[in-house]
Amino acid sequence: MSKPRIYMHDVAPRDGFQNENVFISTDDKVAIIDALSECGFAKIEATSFTSPKAIPALRDAEEVMHRIKRQPGVEYTVLIPNARGAERALSCGIDEANLVMSVSETHNQANLRMTRDQSANQLSQIIETLADSSVAVNVSLSTAFGCPMEGNIAESEVLRLVEHFARQNVKRISLCDTTGMAYPSQVRHIARMAKASFPKVTFTFHFHNTRGLAQSNVLAAIDAGIDRFDASLGGLGGCPYAPGASGNACTEEVVHMLELEGFNTGVDLQKLVAVAARLPALVEHDIPSQILKAGHRLTKHPAPANAQSMGKAA
Ligand code: COA
Ligand code: ZN
Repeated sequence: MSKPRIYMHDVAPRDGFQNENVFISTDDKVAIIDALSECGFAKIEATSFTSPKAIPALRDAEEVMHRIKRQPGVEYTVLIPNARGAERALSCGIDEANLVMSVSETHNQANLRMTRDQSANQLSQIIETLADSSVAVNVSLSTAFGCPMEGNIAESEVLRLVEHFARQNVKRISLCDTTGMAYPSQVRHIARMAKASFPKVTFTFHFHNTRGLAQSNVLAAIDAGIDRFDASLGGLGGCPYAPGASGNACTEEVVHMLELEGFNTGVDLQKLVAVAARLPALVEHDIPSQILKAGHRLTKHPAPANAQSMGKAA
């Protein structure tokens, strides 16, 4: 029997690099994306077309998109917050437009400087423009599992926004746990409700590991039938406009776990870890990845010297 397939999207070039203090050079961004393209991802979120004042780290979005090598079979998506962003992205030959807004009114205003209604209207216009194009549309709903400023987010609000976009024939929606507030029973419940209410929508779940629950949340979502996940190389990530935000679910940790659990992620873990190993020098700090530190569970270590001499004596 073939292993159940889980589709992995790496978002480090967007969610990860947007939150770094050092400016990662365009050459380095392109090199990391090209290396990720060789690892077997279903999708790579390569950059965002946001205001360079809001997200200076990704001010080179056009150049990045023009210079990366497109790998057949990999979808290249970009985050877009408004009509201006869509215009810029469309000049770069994207496969998917990842339109973003928040379920939380407060986070939407902090992050996008618009009310949720204004965001929903702008995104609707973009969706209309793209309806007859070959560019796919994904809508990412931030703070779907909790907001660092408002606290709990009503599930009915999440489903209301999913319905708003599903009515416009959007077929791809990501539910994003922007600051790691999700927990497994909540994830299972929302996933079941979302899938049952919107059977034609393909959902992606996007977790951050702010409270150490990202891996458990991935397993809970799979329990409820979700098969697509965003995760970030090295565990980088975080929204600069969400207080307390920190790194995404770490891609190599998720892949390591899912392969052990009998899933086929399509991702080559060894190649992936080699790419992650390049990050600390680029971002100029240690990175969260436990797999980069510890290796695969079957990584063998030499026995300590005293164990060897005991063996000889016996
Ligand atoms: N790309 C480039 N420039 C943009 C832009 C975009 N997508 N959207 C707006 N601008 C420019 C405008 O042209 C204008 O330029 P000017 O000052 O030279 O005239 C300026 O930014 C202000 O435009 P305005 O429409 O008033 O935008 P704003 O300042 O209210 O910012 C957003 C709104 C959405 C563009 C901004 O908040 C943003 O980019 N947020 C993204 C945050 C993010 O990515 N968070 C992490 C991911 S969840
Ligand atoms: Zn995120």
